[in-house]
Amino acid sequence: MDTTEHVDLDELLICRLDRGKKVVEPCTIVIFGASGDLTARKLIPALYHLFAEKQLPTPFQIIGYARREKNDEQWRAELLEALKKYSRFTEQEAATWTEFAKNISYCQGDYATPADYKKLGAQIASAQNESVRCNCLFYLATPPGEFSIVVQQLHEAGLLQKRDSKSCWQRVVIEKPFGHDLESARKLNAELTRYVFEKQIYRIDHYLGKETVQNILMFRFSNAIFEQLWNRQAVDHVQITVSEKLGVGVRGGYYDGAGALRDMVQNHLLQVLALCTMEPPVTLEAESIRDEKVKLLKSIRQLLPGQIEMSAVRGQYTAGEIDFQNRIAYRKESKVAPDSSTETFVALKLFIDNWRWSGVPFYLRTGKSLPESASEVRVQFRPTPNVLFAAQCGSKLDANAITLRLQPNEGIFLRFNGKVPGNTMELRPVRMHFDYNTQFHTHTPEAYERLLLEAIAGDATLFIRRDEVETAWSIVDPIREAWANKPLTEKEFYGAGSWGPEAADELLKQKGHVWRKPHSGTEL
Ligand code: BG6
Repeated sequence: MDTTEHVDLDELLICRLDRGKKVVEPCTIVIFGASGDLTARKLIPALYHLFAEKQLPTPFQIIGYARREKNDEQWRAELLEALKKYSRFTEQEAATWTEFAKNISYCQGDYATPADYKKLGAQIASAQNESVRCNCLFYLATPPGEFSIVVQQLHEAGLLQKRDSKSCWQRVVIEKPFGHDLESARKLNAELTRYVFEKQIYRIDHYLGKETVQNILMFRFSNAIFEQLWNRQAVDHVQITVSEKLGVGVRGGYYDGAGALRDMVQNHLLQVLALCTMEPPVTLEAESIRDEKVKLLKSIRQLLPGQIEMSAVRGQYTAGEIDFQNRIAYRKESKVAPDSSTETFVALKLFIDNWRWSGVPFYLRTGKSLPESASEVRVQFRPTPNVLFAAQCGSKLDANAITLRLQPNEGIFLRFNGKVPGNTMELRPVRMHFDYNTQFHTHTPEAYERLLLEAIAGDATLFIRRDEVETAWSIVDPIREAWANKPLTEKEFYGAGSWGPEAADELLKQKGHVWRKPHSGTEL
């Protein structure tokens, strides 16, 4: 008798890689910057949903630390409001929230006052469970200027030791921006590693927590057919777009000192580029993966001062219209200098000088107040030889492309040409489409859920290593320096709702390329 008759082969082929490997031990999570936006919008919702899905350790406690005077009840009420507003929480979950909230308390304190850290220490020590008193995840969601002082104070208060221990661990999670250039990043690294080992530092890039970004490595290295094409022989060029409809909103104060190059390119775009282009790691361990990313980042050709104009474009939005709504100019946004030259748009042409990618242009672009919110990587393959169909159709025969759609409408598209049915000889592009929602019928978890869980479990794979953050700064620093103190010129402005300044198109035209509009999910 054939016993395999009713077996679903797809079920058999599900390969779970981390079963039994990720252990989340009872711990305390201290959030510095507890009154801030990130805590209310992202961190607490992520922790709540992990709790609701029974993924947090038992027991655990969360302590919010910030300067503002408030008590536990007030903080919990604020957090609940934000949870309702910014997450998938529903009113039916009220009882789960009540259970979760029992583990939350607030500690009012100054970042530089030793006595306040003693108070925090007492609060941590009041936990009944020994592991909760001992295992601590310190999450620094403070302004970046406070990172060093908080770590120093924690150390001096005896709450954070420099040690590599599995049984009683202490880790520090650091939000971006990590430094504002190579020098400041190095300085920050040196300051932090006075008090903790590199292994205890978890530098966040929330793009690495996104499901689709994690899928890049799986897509590349668990499928033989695509990896064969992933090189200079087959690929003509690559376009990475991270576009946002939103303007700078309420973050003008921070953004005007940062700009799109620091805010998006140095971290999110370079991370996506590294994952798409790195060599296969030797193992799936954090260090092997991070080694390959660093190797890749180091092979990105540094732009010399004379090359910046030909390879880097900046822009700033002026007033315009998006989705029939009027938008104000960046310079009119709150807390933005009226004569600001901060870039809200960047387009770059980069080359990777290694055997796999030599000569292939990588175009990166990101911006605010653009017509669409979309993040995707489009790998554009070389055209067919100029015979047969190509000879007859010319530019009307499009080359093949694979698009990794990171958000929204997460998925992967393969574009190729096919015959239009009928008695005519007509060719047109068609598309094969893998859509996360239709395939898996499940929500994709928020990036912060995954990242918090990984930090609690002590897996640093999705966090940025010291040499990685420094190498990324060394790529963008020359560009930033070339732009610094150079006021924007007329042609560097773009209307809100357009795809950036014209120079961004010129950047691609140099090699006969054009930006492709991101897929909205329905068209070809
Ligand atoms: C943040 C930037 O890191 O990423 C923001 O500081 C940007 O300016 C945001 O809006 C984009 O993230 P996401 O997940 O919405 O693509």
